[in-house]
Amino acid sequence: MTAQPTGLTGIDIRAEIDRLRKDRNAVILAHYYQKPEIQDLADYVGDSLELSKKAADTDADVIAFCGVKFMADTAKILSPEKIVILPDMDAGCSLEDSCPPQKFKAFREAHPDHIALTYINCSTEVKALSDVIVTSSSAETILAQIPKSQKIIFGPDRHLGGYLNRKFDRDMLLWPGVCIVHEAFSETELIKLMAQHPGAPVAAHPECPPHIVDHADYVGSTSGILGFAKSFPGDTLIVATEPHIIHQMQRAIPDKTFIGAPGADGNCNCNICPYMALNTLEKLYVALRDLQPRIEIEEGLRLRAKKSLDRMLEMAAGTVGMGDLGRA
Ligand code: 13P
Ligand code: SF4
Repeated sequence: MTAQPTGLTGIDIRAEIDRLRKDRNAVILAHYYQKPEIQDLADYVGDSLELSKKAADTDADVIAFCGVKFMADTAKILSPEKIVILPDMDAGCSLEDSCPPQKFKAFREAHPDHIALTYINCSTEVKALSDVIVTSSSAETILAQIPKSQKIIFGPDRHLGGYLNRKFDRDMLLWPGVCIVHEAFSETELIKLMAQHPGAPVAAHPECPPHIVDHADYVGSTSGILGFAKSFPGDTLIVATEPHIIHQMQRAIPDKTFIGAPGADGNCNCNICPYMALNTLEKLYVALRDLQPRIEIEEGLRLRAKKSLDRMLEMAAGTVGMGDLGRA
């Protein structure tokens, strides 16, 4: 982990970030799981799909990505001419860690009649070994375009894959990875919380295990959950995803109550993503000042990974049919 920078006493960090953002022609992208102070100064806050699109479209010279490494890698894959910086290069992801490229390659080779539909929470190498990338907000649209007769490997999140299998009556082969954050919600504690707030709906991310998702009134990506929070008719919502998203809910609908779903002891911090939490305002300032840590990807690998990401962007927009799907 990059240590918290020192020697910044007396510096107005927010003003300096603003100055550097202009001087560098930088755009600051932040995921909903970032600390509120980072969300509040970002140019754009979004889910994985929205942030990928922003990274592909921006005319900034520098993308400061306040999220985790696979997200910053995606920005670099889609915008190679830009400088992409990540405040802490150790901001990883348990799903990415669960899926080493060599093991994924062997798994693919053991199932040559399967295509690989792969969650964006993976390394650039695994993207390069995949046919189509999905995010939690594009997975359903994309899966609906793939005939049921087509055999599919889905990795690395077995809970998202299992949710899609159940919802669409598919039998995709699942890679056994999990998100340590969504895995930590406790069904027992959730049931107790639901009893304390009768009538309050539950919104859950599909990275949650089935014993949590089964209690949900709404299941979707972070932006989907935020949309549900804005539109549900009641006054209290139980939120089963990383709790920093509640900041956006409170900003948008201050008169409603949002309660984070509990972990095993009822009120632990185990649902805060430890990787996302590595980014701080101080590290963002230093990254903009030094243009480091910087994402670099070897060009051949980038081009191979870009194919499966482009396929996602096309299929999510409905601009390509299944007939075009195939490995190059
Ligand atoms: P989305 O924001 O795309 O729903 O992804 C959630 C997540 O866990 C990102 O790491
Ligand atoms: Fe990975 Fe889970 Fe953290 Fe998202 S919340 S970055 S899936 S560990």
